[in-house]
Formats: sequence, C-alpha cells, structure tokens
Amino acid sequence: MTGIKILKIGGSVLTDKARLESARFEVVERIAAEIAGAGEGLILVHGAGSFGHIHAKNFGLVEMFSPEGVLQTHRSVVRLNDLVVESLTGAGSNPVPVHPLSSTILKDGRIDLMEIGPVVEMVNRGLLPVLHGDVAMDRVKGAGIVSGDQLVSHLARALKPEIVGLGTAVDGVIHNGELLAEVRRSDLSKIGSDLGPSAGVDVTGGMRGKLQELLDLADDGVSSTIFNAEKPGMIERALRGERAGTFVEGRA
Ligand code: IPE
Repeated sequence: MTGIKILKIGGSVLTDKARLESARFEVVERIAAEIAGAGEGLILVHGAGSFGHIHAKNFGLVEMFSPEGVLQTHRSVVRLNDLVVESLTGAGSNPVPVHPLSSTILKDGRIDLMEIGPVVEMVNRGLLPVLHGDVAMDRVKGAGIVSGDQLVSHLARALKPEIVGLGTAVDGVIHNGELLAEVRRSDLSKIGSDLGPSAGVDVTGGMRGKLQELLDLADDGVSSTIFNAEKPGMIERALRGERAGTFVEGRA
C-alpha cells in the first residue's frame, strides 16, 4: 500500500518512566500538534512508559500468567492511550484507539496473528489509528507483552509503508558516545552490547530490543529511522523522510 507512514512514539518520551503512570502532559500536547500537522495516511503506535512496564514487571507477566496482571497492565496502557487520543482530538486529528489485546495473539512473545484489516480501513477513510504497546494473549505462555516496536515491524511488513519513524528520548543509536547515522545488520558485531540501558523500568528490551526489531524489518526490505522526538520539529522531519537520527538500512 502506498502513501502510508508509520510512526511510533516511545513511552520514555510521553511519560516519566521512573514514576508510576506519570504522563508528560506538555510533551503529549506538543507531539499531538506535530502529528496533527502531518496529514493523512498515518498510523500511530505509542509505547507504554510508566503506564505499562511497571505493572507488567510487578506481576511478573513475562514469566508467569496472571489474570490480574493482564487486566491491570492493559488498563494502565489504555489510560495513556486515552490521553494521547484526547490530545490528538484537541489538536484537530481524527484519532481512533486500537487496542492490540483485542486483535493480536502471540506465540512465545512474537505476534502469531494480528487482524490489521480495521487499521487499513481506518487509514483509507482518513482516520488516524492509535495503537500501543500492550499485553496480549500468548498461545504458549498464556500472556505476554507486545511492544510498540514489534507492532510497528509487523504492520510495516504487511503494509510496506513509505516511511517508518521511531521517536525516542535519545538522538538515535549511540555507540561509544557517538550517534550512528546508519546501521546495517553487519554493523551489529562492531556495536556489541554498548547501546546504553533504557531509563526506568523496561520489559521489552530498550534500544537493543528496538534495533533487533528494526534490523529484522530491514532484512525484509523496509528501512526505518530512529530519531529524537523530544526535540520539537523532529517528527515532521522524520515523516518527510529526512534521515534525522539513525537510519536502519533495508536491503535494496
Ligand atoms: C510495552 O510497550 C507495553 C507494555 C509494557 C504493556 P513498549 O515497549 O512499546 O513501550 P516503551 O516505548 O518501551 O515505553
């Protein structure tokens, strides 16, 4: 499908990851305004930050099935999703919430099945689907976490969007204190494990998990850009296709 753009905004941008359920309201509003100015054809995915990771960790959800953990983690991320959707509405977009728990099944932590038909119809009708990292049922483990990054790569594989942008709280992939303008799979051995930890509680792998996800996507021919969404104007630049941050190179 042509003309589609997929944007993920990380939970560490939208929330204070160290403090339970604390949204950074001004940042959410600014980002909503930037997204509203981006026009149609966009699918938005946001992370959970302190709205999901802390609950998931407290219930040990990744290791052990917990009905209460499923409910509390989902409710928490839905509260952040409500805030994002509300801000986007206020900024003049036509957002619609899409909760992965209701449309996705995992198999040992990876998406085994996801109904993306509604998302496609929404975009075709000029709506802005707003997905989020979520808890999801898992055929093997009972339940697991589907990160926003995994949702992005799944959607991008299916829809072959023209742009995939991942807005984070850092400038991109930093190695030895320097921003890498491009990363290919062959660079991974050089980069090693020096990618820096994620701030606060993170159950989905921080920058390393993100890079792994995007390199797998790149192997399937879809490039993406990791950029700093804390800097005003960067979302617009990324959605215009500028290489502002780290470009994760897809095979030609
Ligand atoms: C995690 O989503 C979802 C839950 C913990 C429920 P993400 O992995 O996409 O969230 P961020 O961007 O790291 O906060």
